[in-house]
Amino acid sequence: MQTDNDNKDNQAQKLIETKETRTDRSFDAIADHFEKKVYGGLKGDIRLAVLRRDIFEYTEQMTEALGRPLRILDVGAGLAQIAIELAARGHAVVVNDISANMLDKAKASVEDADTLGNLTWYVCPYQELAGRLAANNSADSTEIFDLILCHALLEWLAEPADIMDFFDSQLTENGALSLCFYNPASFDYRNLIMGNFNLLDNTNYKADNKKSLTPNHPVAKQEVESWLQQHHYQTVLTSGLRVFHDYAPLKRGGHNDPEAVIRMELRYSRQEPYKWLGRYLHILATRQI
Ligand SMILES: C[S@@+](CC[C@H](N)C(=O)[O-])C[C@H]1O[C@@H](n2cnc3c(N)ncnc32)[C@H](O)[C@@H]1O
Repeated sequence: MQTDNDNKDNQAQKLIETKETRTDRSFDAIADHFEKKVYGGLKGDIRLAVLRRDIFEYTEQMTEALGRPLRILDVGAGLAQIAIELAARGHAVVVNDISANMLDKAKASVEDADTLGNLTWYVCPYQELAGRLAANNSADSTEIFDLILCHALLEWLAEPADIMDFFDSQLTENGALSLCFYNPASFDYRNLIMGNFNLLDNTNYKADNKKSLTPNHPVAKQEVESWLQQHHYQTVLTSGLRVFHDYAPLKRGGHNDPEAVIRMELRYSRQEPYKWLGRYLHILATRQI
């Protein structure tokens, strides 16, 4: 027989489970905060500089090999800076985000009509995108992509590994995946440097999730690499984003010159062992099927 106390225990357990149920994190409510905090300064400039170098070099080679502009998808695109620049270079780009506010901002940043013509926008969870794309395709054309950009999305998904099946279904045979994700090792290293040992001792530490841009469920590099292997990808290149900038408590010497910081970040972003300490890691990989 259930007692009042049993009922209370069950209710409390349910409350805990509901609280801990993970959901994908839409940035709708924090679009302004994200824009300012992530892209309003040098941190964002470094992130874009490394991604531009890695991606544009590769898309130029791919365009030459295929002899045509590429079909590109940016999933969880946010402000979609790189996607918009790729559209300006003549590629056909589909931009997706679960947040309408983020894509409104992205759209508002496009000034050129030709570039706008190369962009298609889908506000929905990526999990609904295949269906939406199929509905918009004519019966004789199944449009899949030569390149998918997935930047800083994994760490905000409830079930990050699931996105690998989505990539499989949406990439051409020798398609490329540009996967950029938060590096959990950088959290530990930064807190070691800053002396925040209490955070490292506290195994239940969670960032204040209303506004924080520190993800609570990041995926380790080794795990991402194992997914890529299981799904038959071959790595083309790996880079670290912000491999030293965030670790310097004292802004002295070259740190006072933003251009020099970007130059050094670019240089060390591809070098062992520094790249593995990047706040984000970028893996560009091709599917081998
Ligand atoms: C950290 S932001 C990254 C934005 C951009 N890719 C960048 O690198 O700047 C993560 C984005 O993923 C979006 N997002 C979260 N869950 C999603 C989902 N299931 N499908 C599509 N977008 C999602 C959020 O709304 C947010 O704009």
